[in-house]
Amino acid sequence: MPGVTAYTGFLNIGQPKKGETVVVAAASGAVGSVVGQIAHIKGARAVGIAGSEEKCKFVTEEFGFDACVNHNSPDFAEALKNACPDGIDVYFENVSGKVFETVMPLLNDFARIPVCGLIALYNATELPPGPNLTPLLMRDILVKRLTFRGFIVWDFAAQEKEALTELAKWIKEGKLHYREDIVDGLENAPEAFMGLLEGKNFGKLVVQVSDHPAA
Ligand SMILES: NC(=O)c1ccc[n+]([C@@H]2O[C@H](COP(=O)([O-])OP(=O)(O)OC[C@H]3O[C@@H](n4cnc5c(N)ncnc54)[C@H](OP(=O)(O)O)[C@@H]3O)[C@@H](O)[C@H]2O)c1
Repeated sequence: MPGVTAYTGFLNIGQPKKGETVVVAAASGAVGSVVGQIAHIKGARAVGIAGSEEKCKFVTEEFGFDACVNHNSPDFAEALKNACPDGIDVYFENVSGKVFETVMPLLNDFARIPVCGLIALYNATELPPGPNLTPLLMRDILVKRLTFRGFIVWDFAAQEKEALTELAKWIKEGKLHYREDIVDGLENAPEAFMGLLEGKNFGKLVVQVSDHPAA
């Protein structure tokens, strides 16, 4: 499912072109890692954003992104600007919050923003304190002619077979890699789920409930 999400959301909405800069939030995760690798396959430059130096190292060395920036580092904004000298043509949103606010000023005219997830907001019980950035966002949408489109993977259900065929082919060809973070035992699922919302997972979080594959 995360692979199909990445494939359909990125290609239909992001529409990456050769030589463009694609920035991917939660780049070490299940969806983000696939988006960045597809960006490469399509000839674009892939820049990841992840929550630690260790994750960033994996994103560049194992997933082949051109650069990766740590959103927990104090120089995050400057590092992202340096990693995107030609601005950002596609921003694949998995996170929102501080990460989106840092990306926003770097978006190029006619940038495309597939809005896949907003994980930084999932636990919010109230709006954050000001300033209210809505006027800046609306101005950028107009002046830069930005395209934001939210999606749920099943919007593209008709493309599921195509996505699985292509993704499987790229895995066989060694062009697409993935990482799983396996937690043992259903009793550990709640803690693992809470950890996902704090970036404690490293790769697709999977709970193993049995030694037997069919159980
Ligand atoms: N639209 C759809 O149909 C669809 C389908 C599947 C998934 N999704 C969404 O896609 C996103 C990624 O899902 P996934 O399964 O691939 O998860 P994932 O990326 O494997 O794991 C979530 C990652 O989000 C980052 N994160 C968590 N809290 C954060 C915060 N407060 N600020 C910044 N980053 C934070 C963490 O990475 P770092 O440590 O690197 O920050 C964490 O490892 C989620 O938002 C999910 O809800 C949407």
